Amino acid sequence: MKILLLGQHGQVSRELHASLRDQAELIVRGREQLDLAQPEQIRQQVRALRPGLIINAAAYTAVDQAESEPELAFAINAVAPGVLAEEAAALGAPLIHYSTDYVYDGSKSAPYVESDPTNPLGVYGQSKLAGERALQAVGGAQLILRTSWVYSLHGRNFLLTMQRLLQERDELKVVADQIGAPTWAGSIASTTVQLIQRWREGQAGPWGLYHLSAQGETSWFGFASAIAEQLRAAGKRAGQLQPIPSSAYPTPAQRPLNSRLDCSRLQRDWQVQLPNWHDALLECLHSPR
Ligand SMILES: NC(=O)c1ccc[n+]([C@@H]2O[C@H](COP(=O)([O-])OP(=O)(O)OC[C@H]3O[C@@H](n4cnc5c(N)ncnc54)[C@H](OP(=O)(O)O)[C@@H]3O)[C@@H](O)[C@H]2O)c1
Repeated sequence: MKILLLGQHGQVSRELHASLRDQAELIVRGREQLDLAQPEQIRQQVRALRPGLIINAAAYTAVDQAESEPELAFAINAVAPGVLAEEAAALGAPLIHYSTDYVYDGSKSAPYVESDPTNPLGVYGQSKLAGERALQAVGGAQLILRTSWVYSLHGRNFLLTMQRLLQERDELKVVADQIGAPTWAGSIASTTVQLIQRWREGQAGPWGLYHLSAQGETSWFGFASAIAEQLRAAGKRAGQLQPIPSSAYPTPAQRPLNSRLDCSRLQRDWQVQLPNWHDALLECLHSPR
């Protein structure tokens, strides 16, 4: 089967590329070959390539920058997914698309379930929610997978930033009142591969919107503490961490205080197991680069 994978240099896409390379005829596209801000390019390429499955792991992910670039964020995160959905439907090809915990405002006191009301706090979350709605307006064979706090050994992410700052500084302040589940891009990729296998074996669950994050919960401070512990275990230096409230670390875009996603629906309907966030961190740190 021919799979078209978008987002070539992104965290999730890189891991998907590695996992799917041997299993399918994989066509990977980055911004250089297919600019999602150009809807006609999307239509032309999908029509020419005629994939049997499309995975959209590309997105405008600069949460703070989105506040000053709303048109670009909406073009990539809302308009492009809608065009992809139309082209996938015309081919009869399923579409796998990723979304975010930032569609919620974080005011719920328990983990979010898929049917909870959305209320994004910033432009990035609004654009991703508009992308979900653009897919749903087309309907059909689609998986919209909302994930959270993605990290890997590549790209720009909290793990790599903390590893660098902890080794450079004696003391580091990290936000402790935002709760969620750090999710390794490798876990997202391996779960996605399992979902594809279920579908190909005729064991697919219902198409639709699901939460897909690591299990368990922590704060950014807790995540940073686990990263520091692993640095020290590897014989490297790590500065001291100090917990602070979000109010002491103002950013252009406000973040939800509660990013916890209840993933039981995906695990039940598609028969997949999601790893605990701390186990996945160790697996990531010991994975080949
Ligand atoms: N990162 C997180 O913490 C997080 C949290 C929740 C949900 N998600 C969602 O998870 C998915 C994967 O995220 P990720 O962390 O893997 O993202 P990422 O590392 O930022 O990668 C996104 C990729 O999209 C590409 N892209 C951006 N604009 C494009 C355009 N106009 N045309 C084509 N490609 C374009 C980027 O290309 P360049 O390399 O050229 O910039 C980049 O390689 C996204 O849907 C994201 O919204 C992420």
